[in-house]
Amino acid sequence: DSINVFAPATVANVVCGFDILGFAVNQPGDEVVMRRTEKPGITISKITGDDGRLPLDPARNTVSASVKHFLDHINRPDIGVDIELHKKMPIGSGLGSSSASTVAGLFAINSLLGNLLTLEQLLPFAMKGEELACGYGHADNVAPALFGGFVLVRSYEPLDVIRLPFPESLYCAIVFPEVDVPTRDARQMIRSKVLLKDAVIQWGNIAGLVSGLFMQDPDLIGRSMKDVLVEPVRSILIPDFYKLREIALENGGISFGISGSGPSVFSFTKDRESAGRVTQKVAAHLASLNIGSKTFVSAI
Ligand code: HSE
Repeated sequence: DSINVFAPATVANVVCGFDILGFAVNQPGDEVVMRRTEKPGITISKITGDDGRLPLDPARNTVSASVKHFLDHINRPDIGVDIELHKKMPIGSGLGSSSASTVAGLFAINSLLGNLLTLEQLLPFAMKGEELACGYGHADNVAPALFGGFVLVRSYEPLDVIRLPFPESLYCAIVFPEVDVPTRDARQMIRSKVLLKDAVIQWGNIAGLVSGLFMQDPDLIGRSMKDVLVEPVRSILIPDFYKLREIALENGGISFGISGSGPSVFSFTKDRESAGRVTQKVAAHLASLNIGSKTFVSAI
């Protein structure tokens, strides 16, 4: 009894929808191999691709901790599993790295036990993993990693998550500048109070983005992806952020912004070639600042 599960990277916030919008990309992503064991309990036998950064201790690792939470919930302490985690995406990149691992682990245990829970029912367990990883159980990475595509978290209490349609020909250019931005810190710097005039701009843009997704209108999507609440503060964590935006928009990007809490940045484009060009030009500018980067091009 063994299973191999892939879960994708995700872009949370989608610029204007802090904590409420996210989408999955085709690649990169993480892989979990899970095997049933005779002995009850959870072990982690192997983690690859993490440069030794993730804990093998099952109590401290987000994958095993959420699997344990799941087994406790279904009241099956008799079950034993061993986990191998293969990180195939950068950690601390703002691409939902912990979410991808957690979702892969939960999907694996649920499948091994005959799909006891629906994907919707798995979501709260994945959110618990996020809480462990960065101090707050937000769903805008885990929900799209679990469901695929675009997801709106309409409400956290009660949890109400909606899958959104999106245009077929929408591509995503992602650049991960190799600087460290822990989500925990990037959350702490945000102001907790907002001005009404800013809120008006923000909810206009969120409604515009969601409308654009339904109407399959890339131009409406692009012009709605502006953020007056979070980006002005977090952009200082990203080297030459506003220059990178200019470069992306000049090279076929219809939008540009921070992926999740950063430091990755992303652009939507209308075709794959433009996405390739945007990643190349943005990475070249970072290189001119002596900052290495990793780039990804994906359909949505
Ligand atoms: N919505 C979260 C944040 C996503 O911006 O902090 C973290 O990846």
